[in-house]
Amino acid sequence: MVIDRIELTHYRNYEKLIMEPHPGVNIFFGQNGSGKTNLLEAIHYCSLGKSHRISQDQNAVMMGKDGASCRLFLREGEFRKEIVVKLQPGEEFAKSVWIDHKKIGRLSEMMGVLRCVIFSPEDLGLVRDGPSVRRRYLDMMISQISRPYFIALQQYRSAMNQRNAILKKAKISFSRPDDMIEDFEASMTEYAEQICSARVRYIEQISESVQQIYRQISGIKDEAFKIRYHASVPWQQGTGFPMAEMLKNNREEDVRQGITGIGPQRDDLILTLNGKNMKLYASQGQTRTGALSLKLAQLYLIQQVTGDQPVLLLDDVMSELDIRRRMNLLSEIEGVQTFITCSDEGDLEAWQNYRTYEVFTQGGNGQLSVVKEGPDIQKQILREPVFE
Ligand SMILES: Nc1ncnc2c1ncn2[C@@H]1O[C@H](COP(=O)(O)OP(=O)(O)OP(=O)(O)O)[C@@H](O)[C@H]1O
Ligand SMILES: [Mg+2]
Repeated sequence: MVIDRIELTHYRNYEKLIMEPHPGVNIFFGQNGSGKTNLLEAIHYCSLGKSHRISQDQNAVMMGKDGASCRLFLREGEFRKEIVVKLQPGEEFAKSVWIDHKKIGRLSEMMGVLRCVIFSPEDLGLVRDGPSVRRRYLDMMISQISRPYFIALQQYRSAMNQRNAILKKAKISFSRPDDMIEDFEASMTEYAEQICSARVRYIEQISESVQQIYRQISGIKDEAFKIRYHASVPWQQGTGFPMAEMLKNNREEDVRQGITGIGPQRDDLILTLNGKNMKLYASQGQTRTGALSLKLAQLYLIQQVTGDQPVLLLDDVMSELDIRRRMNLLSEIEGVQTFITCSDEGDLEAWQNYRTYEVFTQGGNGQLSVVKEGPDIQKQILREPVFE
């Protein structure tokens, strides 16, 4: 899927923006706060229905405006699609998603329409932060290729919340947990098995490409970047999933804690570089390369499983990558529609051949102008972006 056209209205610092991106690589440079990340965030909204940043939907509406919208026109061969996300603050904040002019009832219906993979500075947390960040990575990756997984996650969470409510009640009232707990434990077990087996299967599937991409970007052959799943419910695929029994045995302890102590919400993706814990061992550049490898492996997995080419969003990827790593990265993303931001013009050195936009603000309003058309641009006739 390729994005043909982007229209933003009252979105963050864009009063009105209409642009037609290149089907290959698009590079955005500009001062801090000019609106580069906002642009990638808008694409993310149209892909997953939410921001990639820790930010509430309300914050994406231009200050002083009643509502915002992001509209993307998509193309794949002869096939066309239009996707719109509307944000309307008010007493009851409303977010709605429209696909080909039809409002969808559930966010899960937009999964897979525009697949995208984003790498942003926050993603360094994949290596540096706690397990929840890596679980989110797995969940986002698998949800984009498997709707049943997305649904299993929602169902699991709902059953777990109900079990936790029973645990808390028992804790406060010094009583035994309500008998209903058994039903919730049965549901949790059913969905946890789906979640954990999908996670293990897809980690296996990407582990080889994660290693290869890492080596390709670093250019160092003997650096081994490896990933594996760490499950709080130990089990082997093909054997029964022992969670219901464990939950039952753990009830007393869980009542004491007021929360469920095992399950996919406690699992982790372990990352090692040359056999050592990446978090404690990796340099800044290695950390960035590791996180980037996970993201590019996600892109290839989506491609493999769905046959669809996701859009790649690289926010501020340059800093801390040496010039060789930047060049190697470039060869990795060939053929993928990519949006890259950088704030330092010096970063553009490795990216001479691609369409480059300057992002700037005029009276608080974000604007773009094309400052360079790369040689590969001749493949298609392009119009200048239109500003209204
Ligand atoms: N709701 C909003 N209304 C108006 N302006 C907003 C809103 N939300 C954010 N902004 C503005 O958007 C700008 C930030 O944009 P963005 O994060 O895209 O910057 P950037 O170009 O990526 O900067 P950096 O190089 O620092 O990463 C800030 O100037 C901020 O004031
Ligand atoms: Mg930014």
